[in-house]
Amino acid sequence: MPTTQFSVKEKYRYQNGFGSYHETEAVEGALPVGTNSPQKPPYGLYAEKLSGTAFTAPRHENQQSWLYRILPASAHSNFEPREHATFNTNPENQPGQKIHQIPNQLRWDPFDLDETVDWIHGLHLVAGAGDPTMKTGVGIYIFAAGKDMDAHEAFYSADGDFLIVPQHGVLDIRTELGRLLVRPNEICVIPRGIRYRVELPEGPVRGYILELYQGHFALPELGPIGSNCLANARDFQAPVADFDEDTDSQWTLMAKFAGHLFAAKQSHTPFDVVAWHGLYYPYKYDLGRFCTIGSISFDHPDPSIFTVLTAQSDHPGTAVADFVIFPPRWLVQENTFRPPWYHRNTMSEFMGLIHGQYDAKTGGGFQPAGASLHNVMSAHGPDASTHEKASNAELKPMKVGEGSMAFMFESCFMVGVTDWGLKKCAKVQEDYNEESWTPLKAHFKRPQKAVGEIKNGDHSDQGAIGSTKQVPHWT
Ligand SMILES: [Fe+2]
Repeated sequence: MPTTQFSVKEKYRYQNGFGSYHETEAVEGALPVGTNSPQKPPYGLYAEKLSGTAFTAPRHENQQSWLYRILPASAHSNFEPREHATFNTNPENQPGQKIHQIPNQLRWDPFDLDETVDWIHGLHLVAGAGDPTMKTGVGIYIFAAGKDMDAHEAFYSADGDFLIVPQHGVLDIRTELGRLLVRPNEICVIPRGIRYRVELPEGPVRGYILELYQGHFALPELGPIGSNCLANARDFQAPVADFDEDTDSQWTLMAKFAGHLFAAKQSHTPFDVVAWHGLYYPYKYDLGRFCTIGSISFDHPDPSIFTVLTAQSDHPGTAVADFVIFPPRWLVQENTFRPPWYHRNTMSEFMGLIHGQYDAKTGGGFQPAGASLHNVMSAHGPDASTHEKASNAELKPMKVGEGSMAFMFESCFMVGVTDWGLKKCAKVQEDYNEESWTPLKAHFKRPQKAVGEIKNGDHSDQGAIGSTKQVPHWT
């Protein structure tokens, strides 16, 4: 800390800042000065606008970028649907891909690596809510891939922004707007529509994705915390312009559109953006730079203090999706049960573990590359052994989560589970509830007579039909 010591070294340059207006050119003079769409852009480039919000979105939400490229993005053949058998990105009721809404607490064993597929075919929708055609909801994916995308292939999702959380391996992502190297303990966001290609320079990869069908991620408000801490804006890194000159090779452009995969052909590289400027771009962030806040007296603040990024619904304070992390941190609270409390939440909570051990679950069932889902009002909390230990532990200052990084996708939606997530992946732990909470013992002891009980009505004759004592007490 404060930055992660990565085993794979950085190899690209970036521009820093979250929500910053960036501009970058790979050839000096490629950005027009003082105009966006001159009659003849510099060096014979085409000017192209990429809109991440409606043109007329309020200024603080508005996200547009101008791209200066060798050929426009529209220069491709018609899209044709791809077969369904080898990918799993459909969020809606495709036959056999029903979304299951169930109140059970769910936990998954680590998801398998798969060295036989590339990025696109390594995407598995595990859970989700809403509908990308209505721009409402989220999709949650597990990805596992072992092959580079084809050398002449690019991909984009028209359905939403991808927040990518690698757990294993390294993603070398070439986007239209430049390159990103993303390693475990880093995250990246690739906004809707941006075309990219993924290479795996360190072999197989695995991780988690939250696809946001509505809006974009923002930094959470800090309220009384002030102007710094949690994720600081300066630590977000956006790519610099990086282009190829290639107008005579055959490329395949893959589009995820309403959950379905389509392919088009084009005879030039999609990675030909010589310069760009704007507010709509991909970015990455090192989770090791997160400045964690917590109680220094007693009790726990809500886990919202661990929010890295948030996508707000139309109701302020209620998120379509929060990305929350549980980094290494000191616990110093006095007279406090230090693990998370038992709770039920109107929000749904999908958790994953990048590495290490999560401090609320020490029983070994929640492992790196595994996951859990505590849906709307599904009760959860520390498992029995964690409760036992924490209730009796000496409350000295203590570091938790050393070498660990758990995270949560929290959503205001009820999150359904796909057939793949519930059955096909074969990772659901059938005994999760029984193992975690059934062993909890009752410790309640009635106080001695001297204390006395505070009565609430007379319960001595509750069962008799016609009893006047069944009349509610407010009458
Ligand atoms: Fe929770």
